[in-house]
Amino acid sequence: MSWKPQKIMAAVDGSPQSIHAAQRAVDLARLTGGKVTLVTVVRPPEGWWGLEGAPPSPEALAAAVAAGRREVLDRVVAAIDAEGVEVDTVEELGDPAGRIIALCEENPVDLLVVGRRGAGLVERMMLGSVADRLAHHAPCPVLIVP
Ligand SMILES: Nc1ncnc2c1ncn2[C@@H]1O[C@H](COP(=O)(O)OP(=O)(O)OP(=O)(O)O)[C@@H](O)[C@H]1O
Ligand SMILES: [Mg+2]
Repeated sequence: MSWKPQKIMAAVDGSPQSIHAAQRAVDLARLTGGKVTLVTVVRPPEGWWGLEGAPPSPEALAAAVAAGRREVLDRVVAAIDAEGVEVDTVEELGDPAGRIIALCEENPVDLLVVGRRGAGLVERMMLGSVADRLAHHAPCPVLIVP
């Protein structure tokens, strides 16, 4: 049987590159009759897991996740043309590459689609650090979209 990805995950951070990646994921799913899960991982603000003070309250964590949903997922969903394709969304809290890899291990997908670069401002690398870690460690095929 030929490879026909049905469960496609697209990792999005709200950047134009990640919107482009999500669009490619949806376009491929339209061809295969598959479905797409858009995932964004909210990084806890620096210091939250640090030595000082108490761990963040559940309310603060919930607010951070809700902000990720609004600022990233809602925007990406609005920006892509998903006509005829089932798209669902997931938001997570933690280390982006680590959480995405864990998700793909818990609930295997046929393909993971990521942008080559993301919302990071530092131009030092050809490949962003999240994309790099996913390319090296994801348990599934990875499509890197320039
Ligand atoms: N927090 C995140 N949640 C989900 N996907 C992400 C997240 N961050 C990055 N990605 C995915 O990885 C791709 C590449 O982004 P990455 O963060 O690796 O590059 P960058 O932001 O340019 O550089 P860096 O973050 O290393 O400074 C994005 O287009 C997106 O597909
Ligand atoms: Mg980044």
